Amino acid sequence: MCGIVGYIGFRDAYPIIIKGLHRLEYRGYDSAGIALINNSSHLNIYKKAGKVSNLEEFIGENDQTGHVGMGHTRWATHGAPNDKNSHPHQSGDENLAIIHNGIIENYGPLKEELISRGHTFKSDTDTEVLIHLIEDIQSKANLDLREAVRVALNEVVGAYAIVIMSKDDPNQLIAARKGSPMVIGVGEHEYFVASDATPIVEYTKNVIYLNDNEIAYLKKDELLIKNIDNTVQTPYIQALELKLEMLEKGGYEHFMLKEIFEQPRSIRDCMRGRIYPEEGKVQLGGIKDYTEKFKNADRIIIVACGTSWHAGLVGEYLIEEYARIPVEVEYASEFRYRNPIISEKDIVIAISQSGETADTMAAIELAKERGATIFGVCNVVGASIPRLTHAGVYTHAGPEIGVASTKAFTAQVTVLTLMAFYMAQTKGTITQSKLISLLIELEKIPDLIERTLLSNDYILGIAEKFKDSRNALFLGRGSGFPVALEGALKLKEISYIHAEGYPAAEMKHGPIALIDEEMPVVVIATKTSSYEKVISNIQEVKARKGVVIAIVTEGDTEVKNMADYVIEIPHADEAFLPLLATIPLQLLSYHIAVLRGCNVDQPRNLAKSVTVE
Ligand code: F6R
Repeated sequence: MCGIVGYIGFRDAYPIIIKGLHRLEYRGYDSAGIALINNSSHLNIYKKAGKVSNLEEFIGENDQTGHVGMGHTRWATHGAPNDKNSHPHQSGDENLAIIHNGIIENYGPLKEELISRGHTFKSDTDTEVLIHLIEDIQSKANLDLREAVRVALNEVVGAYAIVIMSKDDPNQLIAARKGSPMVIGVGEHEYFVASDATPIVEYTKNVIYLNDNEIAYLKKDELLIKNIDNTVQTPYIQALELKLEMLEKGGYEHFMLKEIFEQPRSIRDCMRGRIYPEEGKVQLGGIKDYTEKFKNADRIIIVACGTSWHAGLVGEYLIEEYARIPVEVEYASEFRYRNPIISEKDIVIAISQSGETADTMAAIELAKERGATIFGVCNVVGASIPRLTHAGVYTHAGPEIGVASTKAFTAQVTVLTLMAFYMAQTKGTITQSKLISLLIELEKIPDLIERTLLSNDYILGIAEKFKDSRNALFLGRGSGFPVALEGALKLKEISYIHAEGYPAAEMKHGPIALIDEEMPVVVIATKTSSYEKVISNIQEVKARKGVVIAIVTEGDTEVKNMADYVIEIPHADEAFLPLLATIPLQLLSYHIAVLRGCNVDQPRNLAKSVTVE
């Protein structure tokens, strides 16, 4: 969601904050703003709807001086994305400024109360209410700012990561978190604060992840962390593994393309140290203490949202096939509102790239309350979900900056494949020889993805033909069905072409009515157990003059004779089909979106981590 960055120290704050905002822009890009305290203790606030570059233009030659500052990129929740709703917001006396990520749920009654006490508001945001509340408490009870912030945070309901500056106290930043991530960078005579480590990494590798209900008081040479009950906390400083080059485009036109091409590497990283093909062994250190749980599990429930939910559907096929444990895959947002039946023998797997998705976190909390064991499958190390779960397996895909998920999806699928094999090996539901042959193939998947990526130019040619389509249908069977769903999601979110994914056999129960000469139908038609059935579905499409783009196994001639376009992928065991078949669909969506002039890395209305429900 929104991005936050703050600095206090000896350097000029402005360049650090602007650069940080560019790095954070993938989190939200409706508007951006910055606050700086200059050497005469004057508080300069600049904010503007639109991208960070708009803000820079707007600031122009205005005063950019100061060694204390903070900045924000917004993904609107309360109030339209315009100048007045952009952060920072100020108290009525304009002494205090705040930036905020999250939602203050009880802002309505608080606002009414404050209005009745004479406050007037300039924006429609919940954030402005919070800073007025702090001001009100400070003046009413004659408290210092630190105490006023603490008291105010005890009154609000909701989620927040906030940073506060004060003209009266120009050498201090106050940061706090509850339910929204916040990391502090520890330098020499300087501190950084941000919603993720991306704006910090080039200055320091030492970071502290704030915990929920903690407040940090930062000065140039001093850091104090307390919890909301005023008890001093001992900070745990850890080393960042993030490298600067991971955050740059590395010669690619877009992050999305770079991340698509990174997949051979990211999947290798994901498997490293976890598979031993010659021994037929999978080792998952993160969940090794839970083998009894798999053996006795009645059921596995997978909770996730969006692309991660699609990975969960692939996991369902694999876990049921190999570990013979029944699996249910739930939208996290629906699961929590359904009063689900959960027992202590259930295992819940929560999948999340960001590790911050609010709906997924709420589902985890509910399942935990009801006694289930929770495993996380996350990409961002140290994020909230890995800290909420009992155990888990990181995907190690590296930072994903493109808002549309690509390498995180294939890494999630890889982890779920490993989990399925690990559970099967533990439960004895797979023979050693089968596991050896699967692992030998799995180890080669990154090479096969490399080969699949060679079709990039050819796929660009297909994209040129379909760039003006208004609708598209994606069909698949078995584990090809989640691949179809993912293909449709990728296309719609970055190119704004309406697309739907369907199980191929369901087409005749409704979507077939949509098919005409205009409509591209993308079919996953690789050589799997349902190959013949998929061929029948292609014939049904062709009989209605539909245009078929088929993803086929190398050397296939049957589908080639029927389909209008085919994209070949290398042959592999059915278990690994999603890892390979997804790649051409990512490329197809990417090229169509670029040809349509869309901003593929930052599609409209979206945000990278959805920290509101
Ligand atoms: C789509 C996409 C989203 C996310 C979803 C869940 O390309 O990225 O659908 O998959 O918002 O996010 P995470 O995985 O961070 O929980």
